[in-house]
Amino acid sequence: MLLYEGKAKQVYSTENENEFIVYFKDDATAFNGEKKATISSKGILNNKISTIMFEMLHDNQINTHFVKSLSDREMLVKKVEILPLEVIIRNITAGSFCKRYGIEEGLVLDEPIFELSYKNDEYGDPMLNEDHAVAMKLATRGEIAFLKDQTLKINELMKEFFLKMNLKLVDFKLEFGKDVDGNIILADEISPDTCRLWDVHTNEKLDKDRFRRDLGDLVQGYEEVLARMNCK
Ligand code: C5P
Repeated sequence: MLLYEGKAKQVYSTENENEFIVYFKDDATAFNGEKKATISSKGILNNKISTIMFEMLHDNQINTHFVKSLSDREMLVKKVEILPLEVIIRNITAGSFCKRYGIEEGLVLDEPIFELSYKNDEYGDPMLNEDHAVAMKLATRGEIAFLKDQTLKINELMKEFFLKMNLKLVDFKLEFGKDVDGNIILADEISPDTCRLWDVHTNEKLDKDRFRRDLGDLVQGYEEVLARMNCK
């Protein structure tokens, strides 16, 4: 049974009440849904790339919702209740950071920036700080400290992983959820829809900015990321 439909994925219940199926669609949206397209095979690529990322993180003691890949577009995951927070890490300036503060793209930051957004389409996922999140009862201080610690660890693992395939991890967004035992685990997806990835030598953008900013064929970029992962 379809439980939830987002912009790029659907979530289905299964016979096991502790597991869901995530189905990766071909839909692409940007600027909070203002720009839309259907991009054939994007869902397949994101499912494959996310699978590799969740397996890599699992091998490095990060708890995730990933159970196993079921098909080209389907992933079996643990049932979680998604926290209404988007967790963003920036290693290199890009995107909304440059726009908001008038800073040039591509500057390497001395330390990663940890950012939170309120996951709410109606208000355009506004950025908020820890006090806002606590006041709005989106998470406790302890939970936010845990999210930061986990996300910084994940950043180090992902940076090293992508660097081996000559990709710079510019920034990315994660979502976490509470499993049936109340543990906070990594959920959602990790793909070029949710990470900015630039070629180390040319700075060619191989992520969703190709769609957002009309920088070239999206599928070609995602296929290049997957190909580099597979021959690593
Ligand atoms: O747009 P912005 O620069 O804030 O995005 C930072 C990172 O978070 C980018 O890698 C982007 O792909 C990701 N992101 C996302 N989903 C959102 C907002 C940002 O995956 N709703």
